[in-house]
Amino acid sequence: MKSFASDNYSGIHPEIFEAIQRANTNHQISYGDDQFSEETNRLFEKEFGKVTVLYTFNGTGANVTCLKCCTLPFQAVVCSEYAHILADECGAPTQSIGCSLLPLKTSDGKLTPEMIKPLLNRIGNVHNTQPKVISISQSTELGTVYSIAELKALCDFAHANGMYVHLDGARISNAVAALGVSLKAATVDCGIDIMSFGGTKNGLMIGEAVLIFNEELKANAPYFHKQTGQLFSKNRFIATQFAALLHNDLWLRMASHANRMAQLLAKEVSNLPNVKITQKVDANAVFAIIPVEVIQPLRSQYPFYEWDAQTHEQRWMCSFDTTEEEVTGFVKALKELL
Ligand SMILES: Cc1ncc(COP(=O)(O)O)c(C=O)c1O
Repeated sequence: MKSFASDNYSGIHPEIFEAIQRANTNHQISYGDDQFSEETNRLFEKEFGKVTVLYTFNGTGANVTCLKCCTLPFQAVVCSEYAHILADECGAPTQSIGCSLLPLKTSDGKLTPEMIKPLLNRIGNVHNTQPKVISISQSTELGTVYSIAELKALCDFAHANGMYVHLDGARISNAVAALGVSLKAATVDCGIDIMSFGGTKNGLMIGEAVLIFNEELKANAPYFHKQTGQLFSKNRFIATQFAALLHNDLWLRMASHANRMAQLLAKEVSNLPNVKITQKVDANAVFAIIPVEVIQPLRSQYPFYEWDAQTHEQRWMCSFDTTEEEVTGFVKALKELL
């Protein structure tokens, strides 16, 4: 199948597969105290500085672990109306923490301090849940990327008002590749308190990592991680995949490639009649409205998801293994149908 449906339709990068095989040797201490996990933790420290690392099976588990670390049941997480934690996690954060989510309308998936300011008057009012966390996705669910200045402004605003910033980094590699800075400069140096570092969408078989920078959030984190059901006894097999991802900047090479494929796709379709690109193509997603009658025949050749059934806005995702031939084949098929 050639698909633009999701970056997790893709398989496993060969270097990741080899790393799993290399870790499949002898007995190792379980629950993360093994040699492979230790080595990977050091690699994360090399990239990010002082950091506590916890490995999880999936992005929902990573987000719930992060939010548990910084939220009490009467507190609230401010997020965008498109946030994965709100729209795509079956209520996991609210169910397992008891906190509430305060979604904000946004045209491009991003939050700004101006949007959040009106929520500040909840603070101290016993009748309101208390905003404690600003949760952002980088890149966003709409394929846009926060600039460094935008991230710093949000973090400064959060900290000035007693809040933390959580970053859902399921696609952090794509965002950082687009920004052209280091992982550290795009996260902890901006003031991010806690984040997930995505693996599954960028070539891993399974796994995400929770990265905790704020010292206040570290002490209870291992207990929340365990309670969330995300502590894997054979942790080495998740951790070692991240070692391969960080080695020789594999994360960056793969994410840059996926982003380039999205740029190519956007360029090729932008001049077609009756095709309207609806979001800035900052990372590896292209959002576009196309005539309703071409959707099904195009999708039968190259699966993809409809983002908005009212406007017929479609989402086309590129991944680390999307090829130029697939992009040109897709564009050719779309042209013929149009
Ligand atoms: C923004 C975002 N966060 C997190 C996830 C991870 O979700 P899952 O729990 O399916 O791994 C996804 C996957 O679609 C996502 O798009």
